[in-house]
Amino acid sequence: MEERKQERDKYEQLRRPTPLTEPNMTESEKKTTSDGEFDEHGYWINRWTTKNIPFHQEEMHVSLEKHLDKFIDGRNGIKIFFPLCGKCVDMKKLADKGHNIVGVDIAEQALQEFFTDQNLEYTVEELKDNTGKLFASKDGKIKLYCMDLFKFSKDFEGQFNAIWDRGALAAIIPKTRIRYAQVIRELLSPDCHYMIAAMQYDPSLFPGPPYNVTEEDIQNLYGDMCSIEEIDENDYAPKFKDLGLDVIFERIYFLKIK
Ligand SMILES: C[S@@+](CC[C@H](N)C(=O)[O-])C[C@H]1O[C@@H](n2cnc3c(N)ncnc32)[C@H](O)[C@@H]1O
Repeated sequence: MEERKQERDKYEQLRRPTPLTEPNMTESEKKTTSDGEFDEHGYWINRWTTKNIPFHQEEMHVSLEKHLDKFIDGRNGIKIFFPLCGKCVDMKKLADKGHNIVGVDIAEQALQEFFTDQNLEYTVEELKDNTGKLFASKDGKIKLYCMDLFKFSKDFEGQFNAIWDRGALAAIIPKTRIRYAQVIRELLSPDCHYMIAAMQYDPSLFPGPPYNVTEEDIQNLYGDMCSIEEIDENDYAPKFKDLGLDVIFERIYFLKIK
């Protein structure tokens, strides 16, 4: 009886909203900028240069593959956005199906590695006002912006018919989530299918990233604008055991403008 109660409590914890504060960080993560803020860009760029990228998957994401028909919904040649894209192979898989891909990542190395790993010829162009660089496949089907997501807007590529948010909202420090959602909300076209992969665990046991994102967090960020449906669940406990987490799920939410 007691065991069942403990198990239930663990799951209850996963449903609570994440406090919008900066989480505890290890010493190496506590790099700050000159104004004393946590150096988020430096942290991620360092992870790419030191090849500390366990989040990268060599195969298409299992839930994207499983729910691809719902995500694409019979539409041809749609524009799909990958916020905080890294070198995600899903971009190539969807480009091969005839869709147009746009990604944004702060780490130049991630974007270079994407094109070399995928054997794709590409061009690099400086963006105006020193905002960053544009890496584009020769056929123009994949455009990856090397820049801060918080400087990206619909002025670059308009709005999107679909967004695959994996390792994106989950990688944003909780206290900046509202700003993140402001950027994304502007990018949703009326027919947009927005899919979010949210990692859910007890945040007192692990500081993140990935940060804990509950269904209530997603409701708070997008609930006034979108319907939100949980469509899948993946057990990540085997991958996170070494980090002291026995209970961690990736839940997939499907959002549509109401
Ligand atoms: C957890 S990784 C996920 C990468 C990819 N979505 C995937 O699933 O493999 C998070 C990525 O976000 C990028 N990133 C973090 N903060 C960013 C920001 N403010 N603007 C643009 N990219 C950022 C990092 O460089 C890193 O590649």
